[in-house]
Amino acid sequence: MDDEGFVLVIGSAGIDVKGRPNSDELEYETSNLGRVRNSVGGVARNIAENLARLEVPTVLLSAVGDDAAGNRVLAHCEESGIDCSYVRQVPSGRTGTYLALLKTSGDLMVAISDFEIMSAVDRPFLLHNEALFAEAEMLVIDATLSLDALATVFELAERYNLRVCADPTTPALAGNLCDYIPKLFLVVPNAAETTALCGLANPAKDRESAIDAARHLVHLGADIAVVTLGARGLAYADSSGGGFIRAMHTQVVDSTGAGDAFTGAVIFGLVNEVRVDEAMRLGATAAALTVQNRATVIPELSQEMLYDELVI
Ligand SMILES: Nc1ncnc2c1ncn2[C@@H]1O[C@H](COP(=O)(O)OP(=O)(O)OP(=O)(O)O)[C@@H](O)[C@H]1O
Ligand SMILES: [Mg+2]
Repeated sequence: MDDEGFVLVIGSAGIDVKGRPNSDELEYETSNLGRVRNSVGGVARNIAENLARLEVPTVLLSAVGDDAAGNRVLAHCEESGIDCSYVRQVPSGRTGTYLALLKTSGDLMVAISDFEIMSAVDRPFLLHNEALFAEAEMLVIDATLSLDALATVFELAERYNLRVCADPTTPALAGNLCDYIPKLFLVVPNAAETTALCGLANPAKDRESAIDAARHLVHLGADIAVVTLGARGLAYADSSGGGFIRAMHTQVVDSTGAGDAFTGAVIFGLVNEVRVDEAMRLGATAAALTVQNRATVIPELSQEMLYDELVI
């Protein structure tokens, strides 16, 4: 990436609320004892924070409410080095929230995601910020964008010849990206998101089906496709082949943010023109470090930390 360049990340920024019960024997329709924590999240924002921590100049386009949560999100992003000057703060808007119930193991049991505020990232807002598209080096989006916003983003990406990386975010939203697969430089679904994204009958579940799903996405027109399988690892494909990388053995403290750390570190590699297989290893390393950390994005993440831990 040249000195002037920056990555433009467009999508959700909000608060994660995560509850971990003391026992996996939950009692329904009543209150259970456990630990509840909240942190700053949002898929696009998490990716942006990973990029900024890895010293990639990063500009975020998103929307938050004009409330305490919105101020907290903005302050945290700025502290981590993300340029938030273009984030829209919506008067009386409700800052996006991801409410997750974890198992005692730290894995996700179920979540509710409310990013209705993303309707403020609309066509007029994106067109108003067209100059950012003209100057960006690369574009990263999540699937919380409305259909109209997605159409506008790809129109602008084409106008300025920008590579677009996409995180399908969640199975319920991944399908919105289907029409754009041929226009994607990088797409990173997890196993559950592959069904909605590639029209597969069953989600990828093991090495073979994940490799098939990644190849299928490349066949549909994506330049690089990665299918992540959590603690099992990931399959990737591009026009020259692909492969499978096993996840590193780690102690899971909180798996939230693993996928976003993976995507952020892969994009860090790709903007720095490393080989695709090395970018995948950078991603797997960042993700493994992240699951060992309580935070959604490791505050101390750095290029040095990543390369120190890199598995060859
Ligand atoms: N328990 C783990 N141990 C080691 N590495 C892991 C673990 N969980 C995830 N990873 C790494 O992170 C990558 C992405 O994880 P995953 O498939 O869980 O993404 P995701 O479902 O998008 O996660 P997120 O909840 O952050 O969105 C995996 O391919 C793997 O390399
Ligand atoms: Mg994910």
